[in-house]
Amino acid sequence: MMGGAAVRVGLLGLLLPCVATAPTNKDWDIYSFHINSTVTSRYATTVITSRVANRINQSQEIEFHVKIPKNAFISKFRMTIEGKTYDGVVKQKEEAQQQYTQAVSRGQSAGIVSSVGRTLEEFKTSVTVAALSKVTFELTYEELLKRRLGKYELLIHARPMQPVADFKIDVYIKEYPGVNILEIKGGLSTKELANAISKTQTSTEAWVHFYPSKAQQSQCDSCGEEGLNGDLVIVYDVHRKKSIGDLKKSDGYFVHHFAPSDLPRIPKNVVFVIDQSGSMYGRKIQQTREALLKILGDLAEDDHFGLITFDSSVFPWKEELLLANQKNLEAAKMFVQNIRDRGATDINAAVLRGTDMLNRHLREGTASLLILLTDGDPTTGETNLENIHKNIKEAIDKKFPLYCLGFGMDVNFEFLEKMALENNGVGRRIYEDSDAALQLQGFYEEVATPLLTDVQMVYLGGANLTQTNFSQYYNGSEIVVAGQITDNNIEEFTAEVIAISKSNKVTYSETIPTEEPITARSDSNLQRLWAYLTVKQLLDKEVQLSGNEKETVKKKILDLCLKYGFVTPLTSMVVTKPQGEESQVAHKPKEGETPTESKQNAQINFSQHTDYMDYDFPHNPTEITIKVSPLIRFLLPAEGQALPLCYDIPVGLSLRLLKDPNNDCSMNGQLGQSDNAGYQKIVLHYRSDQHIDFDTTGITFNNGQNATYFSWSVNINIEKDSVSLILRDKEMDVTMGSTRVIIMLYERDGKVFLWPVLRQRPTGDNISGIMARPPVVYEEVQGTTIKLKIQDKEVDVSRASTVDLSVRSAPTVTCWLTPLQSALQGELADFTVSQL
Ligand SMILES: *[C@@H]1O[C@H](CO)[C@@H](O)[C@H](O)[C@H]1NC(C)=O
Ligand SMILES: *[C@@H]1O[C@H](CO)[C@@H](O)[C@H](O)[C@H]1NC(C)=O
Ligand SMILES: *[C@@H]1O[C@H](CO)[C@@H](O)[C@H](O)[C@H]1NC(C)=O
Ligand SMILES: *[C@@H]1O[C@H](CO)[C@@H](O)[C@H](O)[C@H]1NC(C)=O
Ligand SMILES: *[C@@H]1O[C@H](CO)[C@@H](O)[C@H](O)[C@H]1NC(C)=O
Ligand SMILES: *[C@@H]1O[C@H](CO)[C@@H](O)[C@H](O)[C@H]1NC(C)=O
Ligand SMILES: *[C@@H]1O[C@H](CO)[C@@H](O)[C@H](O)[C@H]1NC(C)=O
Ligand SMILES: *[C@@H]1O[C@H](CO)[C@@H](O)[C@H](O)[C@H]1NC(C)=O
Repeated sequence: MMGGAAVRVGLLGLLLPCVATAPTNKDWDIYSFHINSTVTSRYATTVITSRVANRINQSQEIEFHVKIPKNAFISKFRMTIEGKTYDGVVKQKEEAQQQYTQAVSRGQSAGIVSSVGRTLEEFKTSVTVAALSKVTFELTYEELLKRRLGKYELLIHARPMQPVADFKIDVYIKEYPGVNILEIKGGLSTKELANAISKTQTSTEAWVHFYPSKAQQSQCDSCGEEGLNGDLVIVYDVHRKKSIGDLKKSDGYFVHHFAPSDLPRIPKNVVFVIDQSGSMYGRKIQQTREALLKILGDLAEDDHFGLITFDSSVFPWKEELLLANQKNLEAAKMFVQNIRDRGATDINAAVLRGTDMLNRHLREGTASLLILLTDGDPTTGETNLENIHKNIKEAIDKKFPLYCLGFGMDVNFEFLEKMALENNGVGRRIYEDSDAALQLQGFYEEVATPLLTDVQMVYLGGANLTQTNFSQYYNGSEIVVAGQITDNNIEEFTAEVIAISKSNKVTYSETIPTEEPITARSDSNLQRLWAYLTVKQLLDKEVQLSGNEKETVKKKILDLCLKYGFVTPLTSMVVTKPQGEESQVAHKPKEGETPTESKQNAQINFSQHTDYMDYDFPHNPTEITIKVSPLIRFLLPAEGQALPLCYDIPVGLSLRLLKDPNNDCSMNGQLGQSDNAGYQKIVLHYRSDQHIDFDTTGITFNNGQNATYFSWSVNINIEKDSVSLILRDKEMDVTMGSTRVIIMLYERDGKVFLWPVLRQRPTGDNISGIMARPPVVYEEVQGTTIKLKIQDKEVDVSRASTVDLSVRSAPTVTCWLTPLQSALQGELADFTVSQL
């Protein structure tokens, strides 16, 4: 058996379609699937247990595939096969990677945790199970629930992949101050499933059970042959009897939840800094206008506000902040109605302008906030990211928080997040979707009602505290501090809160004896809560540091993660498996990251496109040799799926990249002659007789009569009529009407080539070319890993990898290698041109 497995792994990349199709789900049965979530002091520990039987008299690979909240840390993974358990081991990320690399000489089993959508991460692994045997998978993850708009939400995603006879979700909540509201929401909370859900409540405890029958699992709205697929969201809040909140201690640790709501609102000074650069074109700018109009309508009469729009220039609506009275709001709404997209992005100048406006308006008894909304990188003015961070930090000087909202996936979120964190704010992604305006309003609501400023949390007898100073506290949110209680023979532990409310300084304090009250049950979760919160805050801090300080903080994070078993951006889990099978490594994906494979696994660069290659099958299958003509691999993003598609095109061809007949512009490119060499030449035609020619040495503008040449190393910033051209750092950013394309010059592995990236798809009909293809929608055909359904047709694919040239760092990504005809929905000949 072992020999067989090894051969199969070795050939996986090249021969997948030739290997017998993977077993369908009928060959294995998930006979039990339990999710058990326990929440105390808002700290949730969730265990997913899946028990699977191999029903055939042959060993086979069985998959475990679940989704967990992004905010959570995985803390345990265990497989039990034939009485033997295999526990995942958390190690430093590099060490885990190294061990893995040594164990694997070939293969492609990376990327077992990947980011999906707004809130979830996907965990996926598999193991070979002997004939008629069973396996149990058990995954544990932990998270501190965050209070937003007055509520905590525990999200549980259930998708076992088939109807399960013994399916259970059990949630147990124990909150000492008492559970206040308790609601059940999410896609699984439907009428058909209503009788499968039960909830019970005492003063301090709540239980939610979800036990749908096997029949219900395939009949409900969002369910099918594959059983349940959806979320159960448990929404709750706790009672708050004392203003100082809920102070709890156990086993030498304490946690303090502070969320008063009985205070007067503090008038705000708020400045909105809104990106109106060309990339905000279309729906984004429309949604921004919609959200702003609503937000303006929600300002209180004693709030002061300012509006700044920016592209390559900065346009304040008024030089000063104005009172949010009827007359001013009407005028501001007119201004908002007229926000139009245009030009480049000067974030530095715009945020400095907003800071200046607020700095001139600071008054006692008010709370100031700066809110930046952008969808792109700084492309004009100051573009050095470090300089921008430094400028903004100096200008704000901790006087008020800066919130950075990154609209869509083209933003450099790390840059925005760091800028926000350095200025006491938070970074938030706004997803480009139909509800973007609601996401913007939702964010604003969270900070709409400041109740306290300059909040200091002081603990006499506390040590190793999490963050204790907070610049502002908003109604509906919560301040959480955890720490250790030093046992220097003090008899009492005192918590004190000092802050500034609307009109005066306020203090709250509470003293509790350090002796354990006999009634309080020991709760080891408080220690884990402390560790979780400490790690989360140190990760935010680490982003802002450099040099030795950064290393010190990293070391602290690492020590805690190893002690508590958390899988974080600095640690990974080695998933160990029975002998003869590759171990896998679970990495925590970064926000917005596509799943990437390590370089060591990226060796499968060509596959079985019979059009372009010949097989030569000798008898010993491990010695297959393949003759290939060089190809260039293209990525095609997929909607709602973790892996993109990819397809290969032979070198040397001239391709139609984009043709927009409505705006009289088109772009063609000629591929280089060797593999992985991108384009050698790209020509952009516009206004019938004008064109811009790009090659690897420079750029030539032809206006019908004269030609002007620029080398790639100069900076250009031209804006004329509806065309904008910005050349910087060997990237030409071209905006033409509704189209935005970036042409990048690459020098990689001794090859120099061009690579175009579409940043804004032209709108209108009859757009053609290989770049015109919108993100593809596909489904994995159930039970196989090598067939996808694209446009109602099943196609054979194989797992492959390529470099993603659409971002400068050119990460290696995993993709489904798909025949060109299915990926592009056309023949190669439809995309070639005889003349550039
Ligand atoms: C859920 O987990 C808790 C804590 O491990 C345990 O006490 C409880 O019995 C479990 N509940 C179920 C229904 O398995
Ligand atoms: C597997 O099952 C099939 C059908 O039940 C039977 O014919 C075959 O002999 C079995 N093979 C083994 C190895 O048990
Ligand atoms: C804060 O929120 C609570 C609960 O939603 C509400 O009763 C109270 O009026 C709010 N306070 C202010 C100042 O809006
Ligand atoms: C807590 O703080 C003490 C010193 O105040 C230090 O010796 C100890 O290592 C800290 N514990 C942790 C887990 O950081
Ligand atoms: C918290 O704020 C107070 C008052 O501004 C200051 O003295 C103290 O050093 C701050 N603490 C931390 C940990 O920054
Ligand atoms: C592609 O495969 C060839 C032959 O195995 C290898 O030499 C080359 O380095 C690979 N290229 C990449 C980009 O992995
Ligand atoms: C082409 O160059 C000539 C000489 O420099 C100039 O007179 C003419 O205006 C240019 N034509 C265009 C269309 O720019
Ligand atoms: C798109 O192409 C169709 C068929 O060639 C044609 O009838 C239609 O007028 C075109 N639409 C536009 C906007 O050019």
